[in-house]
Parts: sequence; C-alpha cells; structure tokens
Amino acid sequence: MATQPVTVPALLDKKKKGERICMITAYDWTFARIVDRAGVDVVLVGDSLAMVVQGHGTSLPATMDQMLYHTGMVARGVERALVVGDMPFLSYQPSLEEGVRNAGRFLKEAGAAAVKIEGGAVREPLIRALGDAGIPVLAHLGLLPQSVHLMGGYKVQREEERLLRDAAIVEQAGAFAVVLEGIPEAISQKITEALAIPTIGIGAGRYCDGQVLVLHDVLGLFTEFTPKFVKRYADLGALAMEAVRLFRDEVVAGAFPEEKHAYR
Ligand code: KIV
Repeated sequence: MATQPVTVPALLDKKKKGERICMITAYDWTFARIVDRAGVDVVLVGDSLAMVVQGHGTSLPATMDQMLYHTGMVARGVERALVVGDMPFLSYQPSLEEGVRNAGRFLKEAGAAAVKIEGGAVREPLIRALGDAGIPVLAHLGLLPQSVHLMGGYKVQREEERLLRDAAIVEQAGAFAVVLEGIPEAISQKITEALAIPTIGIGAGRYCDGQVLVLHDVLGLFTEFTPKFVKRYADLGALAMEAVRLFRDEVVAGAFPEEKHAYR
C-alpha cells in the first residue's frame, strides 16, 4: 500500500490513468484510522452523521460546530487519505462570505483538506470564491439530501440536460471532483465521459470514476433502511450486539471478571 498522502492533484491523475477512486464516510477517530488503513483514497465527514450517528431523519440538523468537531476527530485519525468536510445545511447557502468563512474553518480549525457543497449552477460563484481562497471543492449533484423537502423525498434525479449543464459549470468553476448521487447510470456515464475531473457515484451506477458509500451502511451498523444502491460488506451491528449480550450474560452469571482480570 502506497503511503504517499492523497492530494487533490493525485485524484485528477487517477482519472487520467483510468484508476478508480474509493471514498467512504467516517465520523470519528476510531473508524477514521480503520478506513485510512484499509486504503481508501478519500474520507468524507458527511453530514449524513445527523442520521447515522445522531439519529435524525434527515441530514438537515447537522451544525457547523458538530461538523467541525467530527472532522477534527477524523483528521487526527487519517494519515494518508484526503479528508473532506461536508458543509452542513445553511452554512453556505445564505451568502458567499458566510460560505467562504465556514469552508475555511474546516481547513483552519478541523484539519480537512477540502470541503463538499451541494448544488450545480447556483453554486458557481461560491466554488470560484473558495478557489480564490485556496479551498478545494468537491461538488455534489443529482439527489441533494439538503434539498430533500424541495425534491419531495429522496428521489432519483433524471433531468439529463440540467445535470450535464450543472456538471460542466461546477467543473469550469474549479471543483476538483463531483459526487453524483441518485442518478440513472446512463446519465452519470455521460457526465463522467464529458468531464476531466473525477465523478464519484453513490446510487449512480457502474461508470463513475469512483464510488462512495456511508460507512455505517457498508458495515451493517445502520439498518433502519437500506437503499437499492447500498452493498453491505459486514454485519457489525449483529456482531456488536452479540458481544454485548455475552458480556451482560457473564456479568449476571458471575462469570466475569475472572481471577486473571483482578489486581492483587
Ligand atoms: O453526507 C454524506 O455522507 C454524503 C455522501 C453520502 C455523499 O453526502
């Protein structure tokens, strides 16, 4: 496994060479170390933490303070991967100035190397302003979880022309890559072929330059609902419950602690 830190130019290089990019979310130091050592390229501190860590029904309640707190933990656990902080709802929509200041906090206070923002053409000025400030931007198109109420739910987005136009605009504005979420694979394939920057898909089919999933879905730690695009690679939720049940049974039965666990 290469130990060179993953940089923004390195990700662009991967696209040129036809190498696929692997991104996953993490929200704390423990799991950040695990996913980094597993060799992923990008660790996203997603605002999905509002759902899979905090138990909310949407990502909307995540705040700047919470995102910075979790991004700091993740950045301390990562040695190689690129750490991206997800800008939460209302941290960049009100004004350009607020967007730049809040994005800068992810780099300055939390140790991220880049930020992610949702939206296409409407985000062009902010992507340019962030570039001027030296802040790399991962754009996010298609199903936009922060606009769940406007979209009327978590629905696959099929407006091909608009998606292609938005993708071209965020690339021209300076985004270094773009997440494509909830898009038919024929459309994400066209976007991927049209762009020089990498596309990273989630529910966008097989032809993106990379893929991202939420860690708790991959590990079977979040089982409230499982979208069609998720593949569960482990059932850690069941394993964890079994381990705690065993601990509880042994405590109740007086089988733990044993002599070897006691100090003399
Ligand atoms: O918040 C998040 O975890 C995300 C990814 C799923 C792309 O935005």
